[in-house]
Amino acid sequence: DKGTYPYYMLKEIDEQPNVMRKLVKKYFDADGNMNVGCGLMDNILDSDRIYIVGAGTSYHAGLVGKELMEKYTGIPTEVHVSSEFAYEEPLLPKKPFFIFLTQSGETADSREVLVNVNKQHFPSLTITNVANSTLSREATYTMLLNAGPEISVASTKAYTAQIAIQAILAKAVGMRGNRQVAKDFDLGRQLGLVATGMQSIVEEKDKIDEIAKKYFVNAKQAFYIGRGVDYTVSLEAALKLKEISYVHAEGFASGELKHGTIALIEKGTPVIGIITQKKTAGLTHSNLEETAARGANALTIVRQSLAQDGDTFVIPDVDELLTPLLSVIPAQLIAYYTSLNKGLNVDRPRNLAKSVTVE
Ligand code: F6R
Repeated sequence: DKGTYPYYMLKEIDEQPNVMRKLVKKYFDADGNMNVGCGLMDNILDSDRIYIVGAGTSYHAGLVGKELMEKYTGIPTEVHVSSEFAYEEPLLPKKPFFIFLTQSGETADSREVLVNVNKQHFPSLTITNVANSTLSREATYTMLLNAGPEISVASTKAYTAQIAIQAILAKAVGMRGNRQVAKDFDLGRQLGLVATGMQSIVEEKDKIDEIAKKYFVNAKQAFYIGRGVDYTVSLEAALKLKEISYVHAEGFASGELKHGTIALIEKGTPVIGIITQKKTAGLTHSNLEETAARGANALTIVRQSLAQDGDTFVIPDVDELLTPLLSVIPAQLIAYYTSLNKGLNVDRPRNLAKSVTVE
């Protein structure tokens, strides 16, 4: 039931702070110990490479997961689009471990990969929102997102829950592997800060509604740009905008734009820089200025400690690798309000179904 909300998507965006709090409750006990299965952790520790597989938004969550897994477990990690992996399987090492990201647990492209993985007797984990779903039943292990049903076709809370779970898993495995960097990661506290930060962002809806009206409702195209994890959030931000508002959008590595695509920038094209990483903030700012010099409406989603005069939307500071949990939310809301202000059916975009059960 969507209660007083006009669309499920807005309700689901608003639920994200609570989803974070629930995950902390479920996976951390009062003493800060973590409830992640030993068999699962040992299987991952025993592997020589982690493969994260997913489609669409789940794939984008995996791109952040890769950074988390590598930093905290020290195990090389690759992320693959499931429909590609299914028929172009890369050369695998001796002991791969597979992580399937799927909100529904029913995506045919991802299942095709799992079927092949099972034929080769490799261990696997499905991270899903749906207990007893096909991919949950067929994988060795399951971790549940506990995000509550996601009804809107555009995925929002599943993306943030998938990132949070991957952070939990990465820390748990890293600690079991005795890695200092994992022990030092105050993830329980950080996820609390994330929840509070999300809450403050969703309370700024009116501001984002104005941004959507001013820059996006009449736009033919838009760009999100960033580097590192900000680039991965750009991909997700652009997907949301395309999917429900039908504004053609691309997520771009900000340094790559000048190698051709900048030719598309016209007077008034919105270009949003996502700027949350200290070491690349200056670079993305200059990339953004290059687009402004060609007529773009340059906008920013910036973390507090990197904010300057003239930034469009400031998000609170949290651990750098966890910032996608916050930076994606203004982008989800920009997509929502652009769609709403265009009079579209936000929850039911054309040509799409919630769960894609064909390859
Ligand atoms: C985008 C969206 C899709 C799904 C994709 C995978 O908003 O919802 O891109 O993320 O179809 O679905 P799951 O996660 O159910 O495997």
